[in-house]
Amino acid sequence: MSVVPRSDWIKLLELQCDWGADEALLDAAQDRRGQSAPMARVAPVRATVAAGPTAVGGPAPSGAPIGGSIDLSGIDTLDALRAALAAFEGCALKRTATQLVFADGAAAAQLLLIGEAPGAEEDRIGRPFVGPAGQLLDRMLGSIGLDRGMVRIINTVPWRPPGNRTPSEAEINQCLPFLWRHIALVRPRAVLLLGAVAVRAVLGRPAPITKIRGQWQEIIVPDLNHALPMLPTYHPAYLLRKPEAKREAWADLLALRRRIER
Ligand code: URA
Repeated sequence: MSVVPRSDWIKLLELQCDWGADEALLDAAQDRRGQSAPMARVAPVRATVAAGPTAVGGPAPSGAPIGGSIDLSGIDTLDALRAALAAFEGCALKRTATQLVFADGAAAAQLLLIGEAPGAEEDRIGRPFVGPAGQLLDRMLGSIGLDRGMVRIINTVPWRPPGNRTPSEAEINQCLPFLWRHIALVRPRAVLLLGAVAVRAVLGRPAPITKIRGQWQEIIVPDLNHALPMLPTYHPAYLLRKPEAKREAWADLLALRRRIER
């Protein structure tokens, strides 16, 4: 991990104070909040990558995918995945969005972050997390010595839902094969799930973010023959609305850093 630039030190200290780290006794930040988060259950195995309603596990989504079953197993580069997604007609969000928002950051990153969906700024610029939530995300990453160039950032759905509404279950499922393939191609050591939509996508069912955050999930990703540790935490947009939740998000970031330093 590279060192945080000197010019950012004060900003990072302010962020940490903001988030409840009010004593600096050691070089490394410590989580003094007592028990560490428990390792959680193993999620259902998803052996196939297909867009059909029966292929992703769990109940059929409420809207049928337009694209039918798709096989992405021959896609073995991120450029090819981007091209396949750009050509995909199986999700109606594509028709109302300005452009595809594919990813940001390193192609082979130890840490992959999964958000919800592009917002207005992301839709305009074509990069994930460039609006106010993205600026907070940058500060969150900086607070644990990371920046965008060191991680991979993607969204559960790569097109902006109209009016920034939450993507529907059908839309999430339509885009899910691309999400799995993206994870398999990046092969990260850990995944940070930003908010309930990303959690719902990888678990295959909804889970209250306030309960599940901070609990590592071992998720079997199609095409990876091992479980991948995924940590749910609050979405930065939620933290902007509810600053008091930053203390818990800070604990999650420290847990994440411990994990990737292992
Ligand atoms: N929120 C997200 O979940 N993703 C983005 O890219 C921007 C805001």
